[in-house]
Amino acid sequence: MLAIGGAGVTAILGFVMVFVITAWFGNPLPVFGFDQSPEQPIAFPHTVHAGGEPILDADGNPKLAADGTPLTGIGLDCTFCHRTVTSTNVAGIPPVETCVTCHRVIGSIQSEPLTILRTIGLGDNPGPIQWKRVHRLPDHVRFVHEPHIRFLTASENTDVIANRDESAILAGTNPDGSVMPAVTCSTCHGDIKTQTQVAQVEPLKMGQCVDCHRKNNAPTDCTTCHF
Ligand code: HEC
Ligand code: HEC
Ligand code: HEC
Ligand code: HEC
Ligand code: HEC
Repeated sequence: MLAIGGAGVTAILGFVMVFVITAWFGNPLPVFGFDQSPEQPIAFPHTVHAGGEPILDADGNPKLAADGTPLTGIGLDCTFCHRTVTSTNVAGIPPVETCVTCHRVIGSIQSEPLTILRTIGLGDNPGPIQWKRVHRLPDHVRFVHEPHIRFLTASENTDVIANRDESAILAGTNPDGSVMPAVTCSTCHGDIKTQTQVAQVEPLKMGQCVDCHRKNNAPTDCTTCHF
């Protein structure tokens, strides 16, 4: 009996240890509500809006336009929707009005997610859509987008941009050598335009923040990032 009890306690302690260690060094295991990719109230696909690949229907076949040509993603710039990312601390999620400027007419009336969108966006009191946050730092941490985008878009810093191949960086480079803001987001968010449902792919733990700050002469005292 004691042996079995002991094994049970060891197993539970083992599980707790693994949980704490993975939570400390990386992303918490996706249990107890630490979901890295919550289901959204409207299944909004970044692939279609920010990507340029062919659009597939629910069965995986290419969707066709009225004239029979395959539909492809419309490749909107990230800053078309996340308007304040280059100027303030938050990137900003677009209001429902931005969505219905297109979806009043674009997209099938049979589409389930677009029906939800039109119900929320075309009534007498449009919005808001209750999006679930994917990336969220604890309340004691301060993060600001603007200085990061400014730093990463500067011509001499393109080697710090992560999760993006050289050709994509080159394609987003301006004549003066600086890069467009949208090229830099992958550093902390991964390649969002390939995600049908946004997931957090980088740990974004203190170690990762401080590592980059140290390498690039950014401030590392505690009050930089902690209230
Ligand atoms: C047509 C508008 C639109 C475009 C274009 C767009 N997004 Fe989004 N984005 C949204 C909406 C709406 C959400 C909230 C729903 C969700 O999380 O899927 C969102 C969510 C996100 C999130 C997660 C926010 C959180 O809760 O943590 C990130 C990161 C993000 N977008 C990055 C990007 C990047 C990078 C690009 C360019 C490659 C981009 N977005 C292009 C509309 C857009
Ligand atoms: C610039 C125009 C434009 C804007 C702005 C836009 N979309 Fe779209 N959206 C499209 C196009 C084009 C498609 C592909 C239509 C299709 O699949 O038939 C699409 C597809 C979708 C789909 C998939 C529909 C399906 O049946 O699978 C959803 C959901 C969606 N959009 C939601 C949104 C939301 C939410 C916003 C606002 C944050 C938004 N869109 C903003 C143009 C836009
Ligand atoms: C240096 C890392 C880093 C870069 C680069 C970065 N982000 Fe973020 N982003 C974060 C972190 C960290 C959070 C969570 C912030 C919080 O919880 O306070 C976040 C949150 C977000 C959110 C949700 C909350 C908000 O601010 O509206 C969106 C949307 C977003 N980022 C979009 C973008 C886009 C678009 C780009 C590129 C133009 C980008 N981010 C570049 C680290 C980054
Ligand atoms: C890719 C490298 C990189 C990563 C990753 C990164 N930072 Fe930074 N951060 C910088 C640089 C460089 C600056 C200084 C930019 C400037 O003003 O010249 C900076 C500036 C800041 C500032 C503003 C400091 C000030 O007083 O102006 C804060 C706050 C901050 N970072 C927090 C964070 C947090 C929190 C994280 C992790 C979630 C993080 N950073 C991840 C490179 C990075
Ligand atoms: C560049 C940004 C940055 C700097 C500088 C920084 N931190 Fe953090 N810190 C974070 C982030 C982001 C988190 C939340 C994510 C995590 O738990 O790692 C965090 C979390 C913490 C936590 C909570 C850990 C936990 O597991 O809950 C403590 C304690 C902490 N920091 C102390 C410090 C002290 C002390 C300093 C100064 C020596 C410092 N930090 C400097 C970004 C930073």
